[in-house]
Amino acid sequence: MTDRADAELSAAETPPSPPVTVEDFEEVARGRLPQMVFDYYAGGAGDEWTLQQNREAFARWSFRPRVLMGGGFADLRTTVLGQDIPFPIMLAPTAFQRMADRYGELPTARAARSLDALMVLSTISTVPLEDVAETGVHRWFQLYVMRERELSAGLVKRAHAAGYRAIVLTVDTPWLGRRLRDERNRFALPPGIGLANLQGVEMPKPDQPGSSLAAYFGADHDFALGWNDLPWLRSLSPLPLVLKGVVTAEDTRLAVEAGVDAVVVSNHGGRQLDGAPATLDALPEVVEAADGRIEVYLDGGVRRGSDVLKALALGARAVLIGRPYLWGLAANGEAGVRQVIELFRDELILAMGLCGCRSVSEISRALVSPAAGVRGTDRGA
Ligand code: FNR
Repeated sequence: MTDRADAELSAAETPPSPPVTVEDFEEVARGRLPQMVFDYYAGGAGDEWTLQQNREAFARWSFRPRVLMGGGFADLRTTVLGQDIPFPIMLAPTAFQRMADRYGELPTARAARSLDALMVLSTISTVPLEDVAETGVHRWFQLYVMRERELSAGLVKRAHAAGYRAIVLTVDTPWLGRRLRDERNRFALPPGIGLANLQGVEMPKPDQPGSSLAAYFGADHDFALGWNDLPWLRSLSPLPLVLKGVVTAEDTRLAVEAGVDAVVVSNHGGRQLDGAPATLDALPEVVEAADGRIEVYLDGGVRRGSDVLKALALGARAVLIGRPYLWGLAANGEAGVRQVIELFRDELILAMGLCGCRSVSEISRALVSPAAGVRGTDRGA
C-alpha cells in the first residue's frame, strides 16, 4: 500500500471527535446552517463590542477554591420564583428556532422537559405557545409589547391559560439594535416559517433592503412602553412579572418599587445597545440595589459551568443560556439541546466540587476575586 493510501485509510477510520464544548457545538452548527441563519444567531449589534465583553468579563474573575470540604457531588437544586429547578441554568427566550430545526421550539422544549429544566418561550417563536406547553416543559413566557396593545394582552392571557408560570417582559428592545450582519444578509424568515403566536402579523417581504426583523420591530412594537404601563400589564394575569434587560441600580430600584418579582441582568446577548456593559460587570450593582427583595438572574456569554458558578458567586440566583442551546439544536435536534444542557450541568458540578461547594446555598461572594492583572476600583476584592 502506498503511503498516501495508508494515510487516507487511517483518516477514514478516525471518527470525528465528539463535541465537548459549546464552541464545538457551534462549529457543527456553523457547518449545517445557511450563512444568513448562522449570522442571525451568532451576531450582535454594531461593532459587537458588548457581545465580546460578555465573554471577556468572565475571565476577569478567578476562584478562591476551598479544599478538603468533603461532601461528594454538589447538589445543584434551587428555586426560582418559588419553583423547584434541578440546577440554576434556564433556557433564555430565542426567536425563530425553526431556522435551526424543522420542528423548532418543540425539540428544545422536549429536551428541557427530559431534564426538568425551565424554558422561557419567545413571543416570536415559530411554534405556537400552546403546542410548546403540551410538551409539559416548565415554562415562562417572554413578552414583547406591540403597539396594538390588545395583541399583547391576548398573548398574556393565552400564556396564563396554557400553564406558563411567569411573564418575562423584555425591556431592552424598544427598537431592534442595528445588527450589521443581518442588514448585509438582508435577513428574512425562510418561506413557511412565521410568527406562530401572532396570527395575521407578517414580517415584511424579503425584498426589503436591510433586515426585515428590524423593519417589523419598527412598525409593530411599542417603543413608548414605560414604567407606568406595568400596572396594566400586571392586571392582565396573576402571573409573576420578570423584567429582562436591566443593567443599572436605578432601574433595579424602580423595578422593586413597581412590585416586579425578578430581573434578568441582560443586554440581549449583545444584540441591542452596543456599548452596554458586560452583564457580569453590571451584576454586582443590580444585586446590591435589589438587596434581597427580588430575585436577580443573569444571561449573556455564559459558556462554561465555571461561568455559572462565577455569576452565582456574584449574586445571581440562576443564569440563562441563549446561543449555546441553539447550537445544540442546529447540530443534533432534541438530543443536541439535551447534550448542551447536560454539559453545563456536569461542568457546574465539577467546578463546584473543585471549589469545595457542596450545594448552591454554599456559593458566596468569597468564592471569587478579581483575576490577577485586572485593574478597576469597583470590583472589590
Ligand atoms: C435572543 N434573545 C431574545 N430575547 C428576548 O427577550 N426575546 C427574543 O425573542 C430573543 N431572541 C433571540 C434570538 C437569538 C438568536 C439570540 C441569540 C438571542 C436574547 C436572549 O434571550 C438572551 O438574552 C441572550 O441570548 C443571552 O446571551 P447568550 O447566552 O446568547 O450569550
